[in-house]
Amino acid sequence: MRTQIAVIDYGSQYSQLIVRRLRELGYFSRLYLPGRWDEIGQPAGIVLSGGPARVNDPGAPDIDFDKLQSLGVPVLGVCYGMQLLNRKFGGSVSHCGDREYGPAVMEVRQPDELLKNLPEQSKIWMSHSDSVSELPAGCEVLAVNPRGTPVAVRWNERFYGIQFHPEVSHTEYGTEMLRNFLGLVDEKPAFTMDRFKDQLIEETQRQIAGREVVCAVSGGVDSTVLAMLLHAAGAKMHPIFVDNGLLRRNEADEVVEQFRRLGIEIDRVDATDRFLGRLKSITDPEEKRRRIGDEFIDVFFSRAGKVELLAQGTLYPDVIESATSGSEASRIKTHHNRVDRVLELQAEGRLLEPLAELFKDDVRALGAALNIPHDLLHRHPFPGPGLAVRVVGEITPQRLEVCREADAIFIGELKESGWYDKVWQAGTALLPVRTVGVKGDERTYEEAVSLRAVTSLDAMTADWVPLPHDLLARVSNKILNRVAGINRVLYDVSTKPPAGIEWE
Ligand code: XMP
Repeated sequence: MRTQIAVIDYGSQYSQLIVRRLRELGYFSRLYLPGRWDEIGQPAGIVLSGGPARVNDPGAPDIDFDKLQSLGVPVLGVCYGMQLLNRKFGGSVSHCGDREYGPAVMEVRQPDELLKNLPEQSKIWMSHSDSVSELPAGCEVLAVNPRGTPVAVRWNERFYGIQFHPEVSHTEYGTEMLRNFLGLVDEKPAFTMDRFKDQLIEETQRQIAGREVVCAVSGGVDSTVLAMLLHAAGAKMHPIFVDNGLLRRNEADEVVEQFRRLGIEIDRVDATDRFLGRLKSITDPEEKRRRIGDEFIDVFFSRAGKVELLAQGTLYPDVIESATSGSEASRIKTHHNRVDRVLELQAEGRLLEPLAELFKDDVRALGAALNIPHDLLHRHPFPGPGLAVRVVGEITPQRLEVCREADAIFIGELKESGWYDKVWQAGTALLPVRTVGVKGDERTYEEAVSLRAVTSLDAMTADWVPLPHDLLARVSNKILNRVAGINRVLYDVSTKPPAGIEWE
C-alpha cells in the first residue's frame, strides 16, 4: 500500500505511536530512517519525529531541507523535528535549563488550522531539554507554555512545528491536532482494514507464486491470523503445531479444533517427551528458554522437511525495533524470528512476513476482516515457552499437571464471572516452596500457587487487577479442595516494573 504520510524517525520512543495514530485517522503511514528518500517516494504529508539527540551537537541527525521543500507537501515537526526545522528556517535552538518531562499546559495564541477547535488552554505532554529560542522572520507563534516559550509554531503555510507529543494520550487534544494537520493534506484517507486485507491477499498470492508455504501455528492471535490470510490467499499450506508439553489443560486439542472450524487442518507434532527430556533438572530461567527455543527449531524444521517458503507472523514493531535500534531488548525480542535457519531462508528469498506492516491491534482488525471469531482474536497472550516460565524451578510432569489444574480453575472462574475479557492476561504460577498446612487431622507440607491477573497496553508495563474478593475466595477454595499437592493460594499484587508479568 502506498505511504500517505511518511514519519521520519529521529529515535523517539513514541515514533511508532505517531504512525499508529495516523493510521487510526485513516491515513496509511510508515516510519522511515532519515535520508531514505528513495523509500519514502511521494507521500502526501511528512512528520518529523522527536528524538534523544540535540540539534546543536555535531553529528546530530539532519534532513535534506531542499529535498523536503521540493516535495511540496505539509510537514509537521514534533519536538526534535520542530527544533531541526527551526534551524533550517534560520532560527536557533538552545538548552532550556532543566529537562522538561511530563505534563504541561499549552495556551493558544493564534487558533490557526493546526489548532482549530481547541480550547484556549489544554494539557500537553513534554519530553525535551532544548527548545526553539530565536524564531526566523515570518514564523508565527501559535501557542506557548505558561513561561511564554513557543510550543506550536508555523513557519509558512505548509510547515508547522510543535514542541510536545500529540501522539500520546496525555496530550488532551493530540488526536485533534493530528486530524487538523491531516486536513492540510491534499489527499483523502485511504486506509481501511477491508481495503488493506484485499491488497494483502493479492500481494501474498504474488509472493507465494504457487509454492508450498510452511508456517508454525500456536493458537495465538498472530499465527492464527497469518494462517487464515494464507488460507484466504489459496495457499498450499503446511501449518505445523508443535505440542511442547508445556501447554495449558486441553489446549493442544482445542487448537486443532479451532483451526478445523476455520477450515484448516493442522499438522500436530507431539514433542512432549523431547521437550521435557531437555528440561530435566534445569532450573535456570534463561537456560530453560534457550533449550525450549532450540528444541522448537529442531522439531519444527525436521517436520517441515524441505522448505519452499516459510511464513512468519512478524509484526511491525519487531521490524522497526530491529531496524532502528540495536538495544538489548530488541535483540531479545527478535531472536526467535531471526534464528540462523530463518536468516538463511530470508537470504534465499524464501521468507514471507505478510503481517510486517501491522501493529497488534491491526492484526486483530485484519483477523476480524478475515472472519475469525471474536473469542479467538481476544485470547490472552501466552508465552512461547508456555508453562515452563510459570512452573518456577524444576519442570516435572507432576508439577506441570498441578499448575495446569490450578490454572484451569482460575481461568474457568474468570470466564464464568465475566472477568476474563476485562483483564489483559491471567495465569497461575507454581512456586518451588513447600509450606505447612493441615488437611483433616494431618499436617501437610505442600507447594503454593500464585495467581496473576494484569492489565496492560503493550506488555511493557502492567498493573495488577483488583479482582473481587468473592471471586478470589471461590478460586482459592476450589484449588485447595481439588488440586492435590497445593495447600496455599496467593494473589500477586506486583506492578511491572519492577516485577515481570511472568515469574521467570
Ligand atoms: P514479562 O514476563 O517479560 O512478559 O513481563 C511480558 C509479556 O511477554 C510474554 N512473554 C513471552 N512471550 N516468548 C513469548 O512469546 C517468551 O519467551 C515470553 N516471555 C514473556 C508474557 O506472557 C507477557 O505477555
